[in-house]
Amino acid sequence: MIDVRDTARMRMRYHVTTFGCQMNEHDSERMRGMLDALGYSEADSRAEADLILFNTCSIRESADNRLIAHLGEAKRLKREDPSRIVGVGGCWAQSLKDEVFERFPFVDVAFGPGQVNRLADFLLSDSLSAQGYFEFESFTGDLPAKRGRATQGWLQISVGCNCRCAYCIVPSTRGLEVSRPLQDLVAEARAMADDGVCEITLLGQNVNSYGRDLRPTRASFAELLGELDAIGGLERIRYTSPHPKDMREDVIRAHAELRSLCEHIHLPLQSGSSRVLRAMRRTYDRERYLDRVALIREYVPDVALTTDIIVGFPGETEADFEQTLEVVDAVGYDGGFTFLFSPRRGTEAATVTTGLVSHDVKLARMERLLELVQRRARERAQRFVGRTVEVLVEGESRTDPERLRGRSRHNKVVNFTGLARPGEFAMVSVTAATSQTLAGEERIAARAVG
Ligand code: 5AD
Ligand code: SF4
Repeated sequence: MIDVRDTARMRMRYHVTTFGCQMNEHDSERMRGMLDALGYSEADSRAEADLILFNTCSIRESADNRLIAHLGEAKRLKREDPSRIVGVGGCWAQSLKDEVFERFPFVDVAFGPGQVNRLADFLLSDSLSAQGYFEFESFTGDLPAKRGRATQGWLQISVGCNCRCAYCIVPSTRGLEVSRPLQDLVAEARAMADDGVCEITLLGQNVNSYGRDLRPTRASFAELLGELDAIGGLERIRYTSPHPKDMREDVIRAHAELRSLCEHIHLPLQSGSSRVLRAMRRTYDRERYLDRVALIREYVPDVALTTDIIVGFPGETEADFEQTLEVVDAVGYDGGFTFLFSPRRGTEAATVTTGLVSHDVKLARMERLLELVQRRARERAQRFVGRTVEVLVEGESRTDPERLRGRSRHNKVVNFTGLARPGEFAMVSVTAATSQTLAGEERIAARAVG
């Protein structure tokens, strides 16, 4: 029998805004899946929603600022209709915990990244008072998913992080590392493949330390990759992010040996100076990083490498920064994300008071770094011109609706003319390349054959 509250819920509509990383995108898909299972439906805009949710990020100050602007709109909508529910989940909520309700009294429910399931408890309870849920309890990966794309899916392999990088808020928001059992992951990936997913991205704060905490039987990341590769229908496997300290030969070899493992590795450098890396507590130095890059290129010469770099970490001198430039030049990344250091509450680096880098110096270094990252990426991208690459089509090109857009195995965005539909593979002959994107034309005959 359906109770009155169930029928009321069936008319309720939700809206989710996601900030931050791919793990948050994944968590939001699970939030949507859970709400659909509860009988809610998705609204196109916040104004049409009875339940307004934010899945938040706290990695840098700029993320906080963006969120606060959005929360202002939720506050106004709540004032217009006080029966609306405003919920804030994710890392920012976790990092502020109960302070959320003091600072933002219009928020009804707040929950950290490991408590998405508690949102359901809140919605099913009769409680009208503000509630916060912040203890890690369960993997969001165990909740039902509502995938944004039919043929691409996330697989959450672990949560949390045991590293103590001096700048990073994540260990305090997502807790210690906990891996999901290998057989659960294989079963989930198989179900995804049966459901039409052909590309999966494995997610974890530090994917290549996967499985060390599993009991009674430990597992390794390379083992997991091998098992997933054997699943029919999965054409592409990606993962993010690995830690250079845990980048072992077995994982690197897997890139050469496993059919579905893509030729792309995102290997965060953070700094090219061993001194700064030590202060960051990254537990590898410049030589070890370059040695990993050399080994990767030995096994997969054509691999695409991308990275994350922080500019202006406390104590970074001009000489340290020049070492970062040297590494960027030597490695020749296919792309990179560059960030201005931003002190985060509760982190070691936020307590440093000496050797701080001024904002102007940070900006000037950032500009030099970006110029080099882009120049090297543009140079590297030229190797694809004249080649035919396999593209998984995602939709229309963002700049020209007459053209299509997708990604190659090297994770390059490819804009092209052709007839393929979203979710299909197209063989594209590349005619031009910039630092960010490739351009080309679909080879129709090649697609029909292959
Ligand atoms: N300031 C600037 N960048 C940061 N990152 C993480 N924490 C900070 C911080 N406090 C960057 C790192 C990381 C990426 C996801 O964000 O480069 O790899
Ligand atoms: Fe993702 Fe880190 Fe932002 Fe949390 S703080 S959402 S883990 S980027």
